[in-house]
Amino acid sequence: MDAIAFDRVTLARAGRIVLTDVSAAIRPGEFIGVFGPNGAGKTTLLHAVLGLLQPVSGALRVFGATPMRGNDEAGYLPQTRTPSPDLRLRGRDFVASAFRGERFGLPRLGRDGRREVDWAIETVEAKALAYRVLRELSGGELQRLHLAQALLGKPKLLLLDEPLTGLDPHFQEAAVALVKRIQRSRGITVLFTAHELNPLLGAMDRVLYLGQGRAALGTVDEVITGEVLSRLYGARIEVLRGNGRILVASGRGPVESDVHRHDV
Ligand SMILES: Nc1ncnc2c1ncn2[C@@H]1O[C@H](COP(=O)(O)OP(=O)(O)OP(=O)(O)O)[C@@H](O)[C@H]1O
Ligand SMILES: [Mg+2]
Repeated sequence: MDAIAFDRVTLARAGRIVLTDVSAAIRPGEFIGVFGPNGAGKTTLLHAVLGLLQPVSGALRVFGATPMRGNDEAGYLPQTRTPSPDLRLRGRDFVASAFRGERFGLPRLGRDGRREVDWAIETVEAKALAYRVLRELSGGELQRLHLAQALLGKPKLLLLDEPLTGLDPHFQEAAVALVKRIQRSRGITVLFTAHELNPLLGAMDRVLYLGQGRAALGTVDEVITGEVLSRLYGARIEVLRGNGRILVASGRGPVESDVHRHDV
């Protein structure tokens, strides 16, 4: 059975079509890098997999079933993080605050709940942060606690929306390596959205690239080509390779750094 199967899925937001007729099958245990320009539909696609958004047409199956909101099978790190976590919280209480979707107030956890919170913190290698207050953590450390929140419920599927935003190259590498270790040791399926390919090159099994309402799923060599990306960007794109890195460029310069300028 596929972990996620899109069969001619069309997704819309506020009546506007975002993705058209997407067909793709993601196997259990795969690490998929999800890319595409701003507004291409990466977050929208994750919302559909979470059951937060129904397809306009086509069939979407997650582990063989229609995705349902609030399902424990999927752990989710939203692109827009918890708007304003109480910065006086300690790391462990912050992780616990997400237990069973309880984002506000601290739930009273039983022994199993407390164990699971400790397990999630250990899994993201954040034991040293458990009793520190959020206000004193760096962005990258806070990010690790967000990842621990996504692991509550021991999901089979991890949906991470731009987990590298705001991290410098060193912490990006550490974050990717951490997710890779979790994927390998637990055999879970990972969808990881990002704006830059290079930090994910060693970790991804395949790439899902979105653009112009379309999607291409395949290995890096299959998808990251001038031909495929020109179709997805609707413009002439060149792909340059060297030193184990890839540069995706349009006539106006590197596509990826263009995207980053928008972010800043
Ligand atoms: N809640 C919403 N209501 C209406 N339109 C939306 C909503 N969220 C997103 N959209 C629109 O849907 C399209 C896809 O947005 P989405 O957030 O999925 O893109 P993305 O690929 O995640 O982009 P980014 O790289 O900026 O995060 C965009 O045109 C966006 O304006
Ligand atoms: Mg997004």
